[in-house]
Amino acid sequence: MALVPTGQIVAAGPVCAFNVISLEHAEAIVAGAEAAARPVILQISENAVRFHDSRLAPIAAATRAVAASATVDVALHLDHVVSPDLWRQAAEHGFGSIMVDASRLPYRENVATTRAVAEFAHARGLWVEAELGTIGGKDGEPPVDPHAPGARTDPAEAASYVARTGVDALAVAVGSTHAMTTRSAVLDHTLIGRLRAEIAVPLVLHGSSGVPDEELGRAVRGGIVKVNIGTALNVAFTGAVRGALAAHPELVDPRRYLAPAREAMAERVTHFCRLVSGGANPQASMAGRAPTVTES
Ligand code: G3H
Ligand code: ZN
Repeated sequence: MALVPTGQIVAAGPVCAFNVISLEHAEAIVAGAEAAARPVILQISENAVRFHDSRLAPIAAATRAVAASATVDVALHLDHVVSPDLWRQAAEHGFGSIMVDASRLPYRENVATTRAVAEFAHARGLWVEAELGTIGGKDGEPPVDPHAPGARTDPAEAASYVARTGVDALAVAVGSTHAMTTRSAVLDHTLIGRLRAEIAVPLVLHGSSGVPDEELGRAVRGGIVKVNIGTALNVAFTGAVRGALAAHPELVDPRRYLAPAREAMAERVTHFCRLVSGGANPQASMAGRAPTVTES
C-alpha cells in the first residue's frame, strides 16, 4: 500500500478526495484515512498552487512523500486545473490524475479543450476528470445558485460530452456548491440517478463540505463515486487554531496550535472516509463494486 494510480482507487469503489493546502493537511488526511483503514485521494488545486507562489514542485513533493509512507492506498490528483502550464507538469510531479476545469467555457469550447487535455494526459498515463454544469463558489467567482435553471448537468448532454472528450470521470452539478461552511446543501437525487444511468464513467461530487451526512450517503448509494471535500477540513483546522490561541494567548510556537489543528482535520477525514467508503473493511470489500442506482 502507498501511492497508487487514481483510476485504481476510484475503480475499487466510492472514495473521498481531500484538498491539500499545507503539509499539515496532507499529514492529517493520511492519518485520518489510516485510522479509518480506507484508501484516499490527496488533491492539490490550482488555487493551492497559486497560494504557494505558483510553484507546484514543493507542495507536490511534500504531499507525495506523505502519501508514499501511508499504510493505506493513496492517490495524487491535481484539481480544478485551468492553466495549460500546470496540467503539463502533472506527470513529472507524480500525479496520477488531473481535473481539467473548462466548465467556464461555452459547451463547444469546453469539449475541445477537455478533449485536447485528455489526449495529452492519457498519453502520459494520467486519469482525467472534467466538469460539466455549473458548480459555483470557486475561488474568486460570485456565488451561483445551485438550484438556478440551467445550473445543473443535463444527462443527455453529459453522455455526449463524455463520449466526445474521452474523460475518465465527470464532475456533475447536482445541487452542491463550493466553499460552504454550513452543511445544508440539498442534492437532486433523481438527477444523480439519471446521470448514473446515462453516463459510463464515475461521477464526482464537488463542494461536498456543504452536504449533510445523510445526503452524502444517499448520493453515494445513488451513484456518486468520488467525493471532493476541502472546506470542511479548513473549518476544523481554523476552529482548532482559534481555540488554542484563545485558551493560550501567550502561544508563539506554531506547533502548539498546528498540532490540534492537524488532529481536528484528521478526525473529520476519518468520519468522511467511513461515511463514503462504508463497510467494515475498506479495500477488500469495495473491490470490483460497481456503483448502483438504488434511489431516485
Ligand atoms: O474540488 C474540490 C472540492 O470540490 C471541495 O469543495 O471545499 O466545498 O468541500 P468544498
Ligand atoms: Zn471542486
